[in-house]
Amino acid sequence: MQTIKLAMLGYGNAGKAFKDLLEEKAEALAEAYDTSFEFVSIVTKSKGDLLGSPNDTAIDVAQNADYDVLIELTPLNIMTGQPAISHIEAALSRGKDVITANKGPIAHAYKRLAKMAQQNGCSFLYETTVMDGTPIFNLVHDTLKFCMVTEVSGILNSTTNFILEEMEKGFPMDQILEQGRAIGFVEADPLMDIEGYDSAGKITALLNVLMDAEMTPDQVDRKGIEEISYKDIKDAASKGCKIKLVCKGWREHGKVYGRVAPEYIPLTHLYSTINGTSSILSITTDLMGKLTIIEEDPEILQTAYGVFSDLVRIVEMEEDGVIEE
Ligand SMILES: NC(=O)c1ccc[n+]([C@@H]2O[C@H](COP(=O)([O-])OP(=O)(O)OC[C@H]3O[C@@H](n4cnc5c(N)ncnc54)[C@H](OP(=O)(O)O)[C@@H]3O)[C@@H](O)[C@H]2O)c1
Repeated sequence: MQTIKLAMLGYGNAGKAFKDLLEEKAEALAEAYDTSFEFVSIVTKSKGDLLGSPNDTAIDVAQNADYDVLIELTPLNIMTGQPAISHIEAALSRGKDVITANKGPIAHAYKRLAKMAQQNGCSFLYETTVMDGTPIFNLVHDTLKFCMVTEVSGILNSTTNFILEEMEKGFPMDQILEQGRAIGFVEADPLMDIEGYDSAGKITALLNVLMDAEMTPDQVDRKGIEEISYKDIKDAASKGCKIKLVCKGWREHGKVYGRVAPEYIPLTHLYSTINGTSSILSITTDLMGKLTIIEEDPEILQTAYGVFSDLVRIVEMEEDGVIEE
């Protein structure tokens, strides 16, 4: 039986859930692929390498540790994609496979990192970066062969979805934020969500991978929900609509554009039914028309599954002797 050595950077909610899932499926994986997995490093910011030296930082491990696959699960920096980009570059430059759930690197440096992986004969996988484990990138890559993606749109931010829903019930913003924090729907600092930065990061990641956009989130035409008032919500309702923060990307005259903005969505439209932490994405292609996928009420297991599915993909590609593009 072969053993694949894993180095994990970041051991928070996603990292813990992924490790638990891998343990739960160890027997099934051994049976299916004659393969076991061993964590050689697990790095946090405050404690260093939990399996090695507390002085080893994420970049030390990415550069020097003896691993086969780097699992990058450090927090998102939507403005720069760092330090995750540096961690990934360090691993890819050594020919190591990389899996990340962090959309920062995909929104800021996708093309460079994908090229680096190709040149060094290793895999760079990132299914979890948009809609957790929902197969978005894999759907297009594996299933929609020879389809050209011409447009993507969706509702991809749960915090703003939650806030707009509560506003419909007439609650004031400060009360909504307080309640949202209490139930874990809203970050301590929700500005990145409210002002549309998180959505801009997600649409950029999608456009970079699916439409070869080579964009960064600051190039997205972005408007958040900060100016939406109860009066706007009531106005929308009087017209048979709800307000939703919608992400869109399309190609025009050979150039890819991205936009995030609140929109009036008719109650008869599928997007009006997306509530709470659920999300929706429509992908329009030349050969298969418009396909829409909904992720309903995701939990941390779906995040863990995204990372897990990328790892399984690496094992299968190695079995088949395939190098990921
Ligand atoms: N949670 C989800 O459902 C979900 C879904 C999709 C994608 N993601 C992405 O997955 C990643 C991890 O999310 P999470 O929810 O697990 O975050 P989290 O619970 O906040 O945990 C982050 C972990 O990263 C560590 N860390 C922070 N900076 C680091 C650094 N420079 N070097 C090494 N470790 C560092 C933290 O260590 P300390 O505790 O010592 O600070 C902590 O262990 C993020 O990029 C997130 O956007 C998460």
